[in-house]
Amino acid sequence: MSIKTNFETLTFEVENNIGVITVNRPESLNALSEQVHTELNVLLKDIMKNNADYSVAKGLILTGAGDKAFIAGADIKGMTTMSAADAEKFARLGQENTLLFESLNVPVIACVNGYALGGGCEMAMACDFIFASKTAVFGQPEVKLGLLPGFGGSQRLSKLVGRNRAKEIIYSGRNVKIDEAKEIGLVVTVFENKEELLTGAKTYLTRMMANSPLAIYESKRVMNEGNDLTVKDGLDVEARAFGNIFNSQDMKEGTKAFVEKRAPNFLGK
Ligand code: CAA
Repeated sequence: MSIKTNFETLTFEVENNIGVITVNRPESLNALSEQVHTELNVLLKDIMKNNADYSVAKGLILTGAGDKAFIAGADIKGMTTMSAADAEKFARLGQENTLLFESLNVPVIACVNGYALGGGCEMAMACDFIFASKTAVFGQPEVKLGLLPGFGGSQRLSKLVGRNRAKEIIYSGRNVKIDEAKEIGLVVTVFENKEELLTGAKTYLTRMMANSPLAIYESKRVMNEGNDLTVKDGLDVEARAFGNIFNSQDMKEGTKAFVEKRAPNFLGK
């Protein structure tokens, strides 16, 4: 693998085609400093550049180091000295990283153990979906600090749980514990503890890899693009993608394998 993996605030490890990005500042509950976002930006762009042929990874996991937190938010200490211009720049960098997660050509699962507050909840929501352990606690507590969400929470939470529930959560700044997070659709699957969470996510991604990586990516792309469109315009994006995929080897292989009653061998192109 030719991509940079040595960072001060992150680790990136790939095993069996699954890349695990770990925010590694457990002493600060993995709070998102400017350095974390800068390093994450380098890593995500590097993965995008090198993974067109899926040689880096076919699936990714985003998680946090230690037992207490996924990510406890943007780094509050770092924000105390920011000017308005610095803060906008910081928000735009964090937002760019959320968009990079959405643009990656593979599924990204957020594995949330412990606190996913503020910027932590926002990074998790930028992943394709969230798996969590029973200790997970979500929330957008920014208003308690005199702030508002800055890495996409004011936009994505509404799309995930509905506008009224999102407003209630953001205005109150309250914690959303695991049972509620599952009930409102923020979390897809709950695991007993962190170890089972990571193993479960890896097993899930491994099973998914039997499917066409290209078809998964096209599904992801069309669904994310459609999120900002009317149903009519979204249907147009879908129809064009559906037509285009008939030019792919994976489509020919998948349908042929079905007819020949054998397992397909997908190449992702
Ligand atoms: N930024 C910087 N440091 C943080 C942090 C954060 N978001 N969250 C925790 N830490 C640090 C604490 O300061 C503490 O460090 P010290 O030992 O050096 O004091 C260490 O992590 C451990 O934290 P606690 O002692 O507070 O642990 P706890 O178990 O008592 O409480 C907690 C855990 C409830 C998560 C609490 O730490 C907390 O409330 N953290 C802040 C959560 C928050 O408000 N997040 C939103 C940030 S704003 C934001 O994210 C804006 C945006 O959208 C861009």
